[in-house]
Amino acid sequence: MEKRLSSACALGVAALLLAGCGEEAPKQSAAPMEQKKEMVESAPVVENKSATEKAKEAMTEASSSVKQAAETVAEKVSEKAADAKESMTEATASMVEKTADKVTEMAAAVETAVAPDKAAEKTYKSLCFSCHDNGIAGAPKLGDQAVWAPRIAAGMDTLYATAINGKGAMPPKGGNVSLSDEAVKAAVDYMVAQAQ
Ligand code: HEC
Repeated sequence: MEKRLSSACALGVAALLLAGCGEEAPKQSAAPMEQKKEMVESAPVVENKSATEKAKEAMTEASSSVKQAAETVAEKVSEKAADAKESMTEATASMVEKTADKVTEMAAAVETAVAPDKAAEKTYKSLCFSCHDNGIAGAPKLGDQAVWAPRIAAGMDTLYATAINGKGAMPPKGGNVSLSDEAVKAAVDYMVAQAQ
């Protein structure tokens, strides 16, 4: 009788345990499952959303600061460009001026070297003629052999010296001191040639 009772008891306990296991266990495991389901369905999405939003915000922030930086750089660059342009304009202008001067000088030199007669005639006709064409202020007239003969007799070096340094009413280099000695001498040669 005692054995049966304990057996029954054991059975009862087992039944209880089984019942417990059968009823309680599924409940316990069902709850986390549901929770997990919820978490899977909602929580990660929320988290994903906020992460996306955060990323978007960060990107917007980043892009606006990049934009700002770019604007600042652009401003600085255009400022510097304006400065550079200004100083370049000045430098270029003075360079162009200097180059133009050099070109004019070279052109005159080339003319004197390549076509000395033409250059001399040009010098005479642009400057010396104003006195020498009509003998103004006692200037020996162009082509007047009688006036030129005694002067030519003094020698070319004397004529050159007078033409370059001036004498009386004859101004140095005919008044244009930027003329080279060679150009003045060539003009003298031209004038002397007209008197022979
Ligand atoms: C402002 C007027 C004037 C101009 C311009 C002028 N001359 Fe004369 N030139 C004179 C006069 C005046 C004399 C006479 C000077 C004297 O013998 O007292 C003279 C004399 C000369 C003589 C003779 C010098 C001598 O020793 O006998 C030469 C050569 C001469 N000129 C060359 C030139 C040439 C070259 C030019 C142009 C580059 C020129 N002149 C421009 C006024 C001028």
